Amino acid sequence: MDYKYWNEYYKKNIAPNEPSKFAKDILKYLDSGKKLIELGCGNGRDAMFLANNNISVVAIDQSESSINNLKQSVSNNNIEFVVDDFIKTKLLKRESFDYIYSRFTLHSISEEQEEKLLKRVYEGLKKDGLFLVEARSIKDDIFGLGEKIARNTYVYNNHSRRFIVLDELVKKLTSYGFKIEFVNESNNYAAYKDQNPIVIRVIAKK
Ligand SMILES: C[S@@+](CC[C@H](N)C(=O)[O-])C[C@H]1O[C@@H](n2cnc3c(N)ncnc32)[C@H](O)[C@@H]1O
Repeated sequence: MDYKYWNEYYKKNIAPNEPSKFAKDILKYLDSGKKLIELGCGNGRDAMFLANNNISVVAIDQSESSINNLKQSVSNNNIEFVVDDFIKTKLLKRESFDYIYSRFTLHSISEEQEEKLLKRVYEGLKKDGLFLVEARSIKDDIFGLGEKIARNTYVYNNHSRRFIVLDELVKKLTSYGFKIEFVNESNNYAAYKDQNPIVIRVIAKK
């Protein structure tokens, strides 16, 4: 899970601070006052944006450097920051959240971990709760670059990415009981510097 890579990355303080387009785009699906857990919040930019829009946020990440920095610098009663592994976290209790938010994190775990996580996500959501996902697609220009370490998984620029096959993800989600509310695969969702990757977006309802 590239613990070292991400911990060092967030120490450098070079991650963008403005909220992602995904966070802004999905806001219309969220109701004020409801509970959301962010899986892999990084430098907390989306967690803070969502909390500032009256969502009650628990934001977890494995990176101690990032979470400790956030704990010291952010004072917002609407957010709790936690160092944790989002696959194993005890915070994902049965029917405990209205929303589970995963931006650019599903592609950072293995297929086995994904299977475990998706089951836990389904269980952790309240009835009618939403799972909101944006992740890298196999249609990404960088797919296939670097060293292949598993199916659709490459180490490139010092960390690994498992590029998502949208149809497969949708099938898995459906098999766990989710209803698909929104699905798309496109560029112009996650443009950053000179990159404009094709990414997948899914909003799945329990
Ligand atoms: C590409 S960054 C995305 C950060 C943030 N969601 C954003 O969009 O700015 C991936 C993040 O997932 C975190 N991560 C990866 N695997 C994790 C795991 N198993 N448990 C907790 N955090 C994890 C990394 O530490 C990193 O902060």
